[in-house]
Amino acid sequence: MIEQFAKDVDDGLSQAEKKLPSKYFYNKKGDALFVEIMQLPEYYLSRAEMEIFSEQAADIIQAFKQDKGTYFELIELGAGDGTKTRKLLKQLQIEGYHYDYIPVDISKNALDQLEAALHKDLPQVSVKPKHGDYFEILESLKNSHHPKVILFLGSNIGNMPDEIASNFLYQLGSNLSSHDKLLLGADLIKSADVIMPAYNDKKGVTKAFNFNLLQRMNEELEATFDIDNFDHAPEYDEKQGIAKSFLKSKRNHEVAVNATGKIYQFKQGEKIHTETSRKYNDKILSDILQKTDLTIEHKFVDKKHYFADYILQRH
Ligand SMILES: C[S@@+](CC[C@H](N)C(=O)[O-])C[C@H]1O[C@@H](n2cnc3c(N)ncnc32)[C@H](O)[C@@H]1O
Repeated sequence: MIEQFAKDVDDGLSQAEKKLPSKYFYNKKGDALFVEIMQLPEYYLSRAEMEIFSEQAADIIQAFKQDKGTYFELIELGAGDGTKTRKLLKQLQIEGYHYDYIPVDISKNALDQLEAALHKDLPQVSVKPKHGDYFEILESLKNSHHPKVILFLGSNIGNMPDEIASNFLYQLGSNLSSHDKLLLGADLIKSADVIMPAYNDKKGVTKAFNFNLLQRMNEELEATFDIDNFDHAPEYDEKQGIAKSFLKSKRNHEVAVNATGKIYQFKQGEKIHTETSRKYNDKILSDILQKTDLTIEHKFVDKKHYFADYILQRH
C-alpha cells in the first residue's frame, strides 16, 4: 500500500502538470472530513441524493427488478459512511428481500465504521465488507453467479475523466449479467454559483480536506510539505461542466519525499491537480456509455434537478 502510494505520488509529481490521485484523500482524517463536507450547507450533492433515496426508495427498488424469493448481492463501490444507502437497506428489509450488502472501499477505517454502525442500527442486514480499490475488484464480480445490484453513488464516477469512466463502466458492464443492475449517482450540470461553493465552503472544510493530502504524504511518506506554502484553489468550467480541485504553490520552493528518495520543485503559482468532479446530463452520460454494454433504463431526480440516480442495465 505504502509502496503504491509512493509510486503514485512520484508519477504524479514528476509530470509537467503535477497531479495526485484523489483516492488518497481517504485516510481516517479524510473520512471524517468528508462526513463533515456532506453536512455543509454548500454541499448540495449529498442532500439532493438523500432526498431521492428518502422519497423514492420503493420506486428505486422496484426498478432493480429483483425477485423477492431469490438471493442477490447488493455491492456498493466506494461506500463511505453509507448514510444514503441505509434508506435503501431499510426499504429492502421492509419489503422482505433476500440479499447481502457488500460495501467496497479503499478506506479500511470507513468500512469498519460502516459495519459497526449497521450492526447497531440495522442488525438484520447481512454486511460483508470488502477492502480494496474498486478498479481492482471488477473482474472478481464474475466469480459469483448470484444476481447483482451495484451501487455507485455520490457522483464518485465524476472523479474519473470521461475516457477512464467509459473504460471503467465498460469493464463493470462486461462483468455483469443481463438481469443485473447498476445504480449510478451523477451530479447534474448547473451554474458555477451553485457548484463552486460546494468545493470552497465558508468554513474551510473542503480546504482542510484538500490539505489533508499533503499532511498524509508527510505522515506516511516522510515528505516535507508545508501547508502554508499552498492555497486551496478549486475551479469550475461551466461550459464543460467540470470542477477541479488544485493545491496552488504560493512561492518557489522544494519538497523532499523520503519514500520516493526525490526532491520536487514547485514554482510560484504552479498547481497540483488533486480532484476532478465531472457534472453530467443525459447526453454526456450517453456518450460515455457508448463504448459500453450499458444503457439507461430509469432516471430518478431530486426536486431541484441537481442530482440524478440512473439505473443502468446491460443490453
Ligand atoms: C466521495 S466519498 C462518497 C461516499 C459515498 N459513495 C457517498 O455517496 O456518500 C468516496 C468514497 O469512495 C472511496 N474510494 C475512493 N476511491 C476509491 C477507489 N479507487 N476504490 C475504492 N474506494 C474508493 C473513498 O474511500 C470514500 O469512502
